[in-house]
Parts: sequence; C-alpha cells; structure tokens
Amino acid sequence: MDVSQGSVLITGGAGGFGGATARRLAALGAKVVLADVADERGQALAAELGNGATYVRTDIRDEASIERAVATATALAPLRAVVIAHGGPPPPDKGGRTVGRDGGRVSTAHFAHMINVFLVSAYTVSAVAAQAMAANEPLASNQRGVIINTASIAGFEGQPGQVPYGAAKGGIIAMALNLARDLAPLGIRSMAIAPGTFLTFAYGAMGNDKAQETFGPLVLNPKRMGDPDEYAMLAQQIVENDFLNATTIRLDGGQRF
Ligand SMILES: NC(=O)c1ccc[n+]([C@@H]2O[C@H](COP(=O)([O-])OP(=O)(O)OC[C@H]3O[C@@H](n4cnc5c(N)ncnc54)[C@H](O)[C@@H]3O)[C@@H](O)[C@H]2O)c1
Repeated sequence: MDVSQGSVLITGGAGGFGGATARRLAALGAKVVLADVADERGQALAAELGNGATYVRTDIRDEASIERAVATATALAPLRAVVIAHGGPPPPDKGGRTVGRDGGRVSTAHFAHMINVFLVSAYTVSAVAAQAMAANEPLASNQRGVIINTASIAGFEGQPGQVPYGAAKGGIIAMALNLARDLAPLGIRSMAIAPGTFLTFAYGAMGNDKAQETFGPLVLNPKRMGDPDEYAMLAQQIVENDFLNATTIRLDGGQRF
C-alpha cells in the first residue's frame, strides 16, 4: 500500500507504539492524524512531523469521537491506513485472579471495561475506518486500505490475573482474519501485531531502568524490552507489503511467559 498520497490514522498516536509508527509513516509521505487524549504530547508530535500531520483529541470509548477522527483524516487525503494502538483509562476497581486468596472475585464491570477499552473500541475504529476506505479510489494494485490492530502475547498465553486483558486481546487476534474476510471484496487488508514487552509510556511510572531490569530478563533473546521503533518497523512493513493479510504476527523476542 502506497501511503505517500494518502492519510493515516493512528489511535494512541501520542503513545509509544503510536508515536513511533507516526514517525515512520510520516517519513513515507503520509499525512498522519494522531488520535489520542494526551493533548500536549500529541500536539508536539504533530508539529514535529509536519506535512499536514494533525492531532485530534479522540476518546476511543466514544463512537462519535472516532468518527470525527476518521473524518479529519479523510479531509486531508484518502485514508489508506489505520493503526490502532491506544491504551485507555484504568478499570473502575482492582483486578487480579478471577477469584483471589481473599475469596473476592474480579467484577463483571472490570471485565467489561477491559473489553470496551481494548476490543470494542478496536472494532469501532476498524469499522469506521473501513467504511471511509471503501469510498477510496483503489490504487493500481487494486487495494484501498489496510487496518493494523494491536493484540498482545497475552491474547495467546495470558498470565494469572489477565483474564479480562487476555480475552480482549484474544478477540483482536480473532478479528484479524474475520475483518480480512469481510473487507477483501473492498480491497482492504487486516492484520494484527502481538507485541511482547516493550518500553513505552505504559511503563513510564516505573522508570526505564527499573522496567528493563524487571522485564528484560523475561525475553528469550535479546535480553531486553522491545523498542517501540521495532513495532513501527513491522507496522511499516505491513503497510507496504500487500501480501501480508488476515493474521497476527508475534513480535516478542521469543518471550513465552
Ligand atoms: N507496551 C507493551 O509492552 C505492550 C505489549 C502488548 C500490547 N500492548 C498494547 O499496545 C497498545 C498501545 O500501548 P503502548 O504500550 O504504546 O502504551 P502507551 O501508554 O505508550 O500509549 C497508549 C496511548 O493511548 C492513549 N490513550 C489512553 N486513553 C485513551 C483514550 N480514552 N482514547 C484515546 N487514546 C487514549 C494514551 O494517552 C497513550 O498516548 C495497547 O493496546 C497495549 O495493550 C503494549
């Protein structure tokens, strides 16, 4: 998919994965729209990227907000790629094992929150973006657009205490093929990336050194956390390589726990 004459929408665009991907896709000539709630970081990155890059405050829990973000992108140029890489607000109560040592259980409200933030929102962004892409003139390759979702290795082998998050990310993995099948007649591809442990803003509060010390040894090789640009390299490859479709690629240095 040649995005040089198109726009690209990135949810969580001011974040670790989103920001790194924005830099790479902007370098290909795409007009990048950063959809996030981190106003300061988003505006600063849009200014750094130039070439029409725009920050649009977007709450991924709000369908109308997502529609506005997609409209912002299509107003700039035909939407050719969407990268879905947002986090979300914390759950309403504490998580943990489904039934903890104290006999309490993880609430349904907690589970539903995680599914909403990580799966329902990803479906909405995918569907609204695909609807906009369907109106694009196809390129000479007969392609109209590409959707990249972010799963997690927790969608394959979640840890104790990760039922809600693992279920949401398992849903992303299932959606990769289903979306690809639905959207194939429109010339739109669907892929997902399942990252292992990456040093993004999500680990900011912990401090980079402490995060590396804690999580680096869990990786098979290399023995360190992933760099967000390693995610962005794969996202760029997925955008550019039309034969990548309908699957989830693990990106985890071999981590299996
Ligand atoms: N970092 C990892 O190790 C890792 C591993 C596997 C999967 N993931 C997934 O990658 C995705 C991105 O995470 P990241 O590590 O880049 O985190 P990050 O914190 O660096 O970025 C997430 C971004 O989402 C934004 N955001 C938060 N709430 C939002 C909302 N309501 N609406 C729109 N944007 C909102 C944040 O402001 C932030 O900029 C998440 O889905 C996460 O589950 C991360």
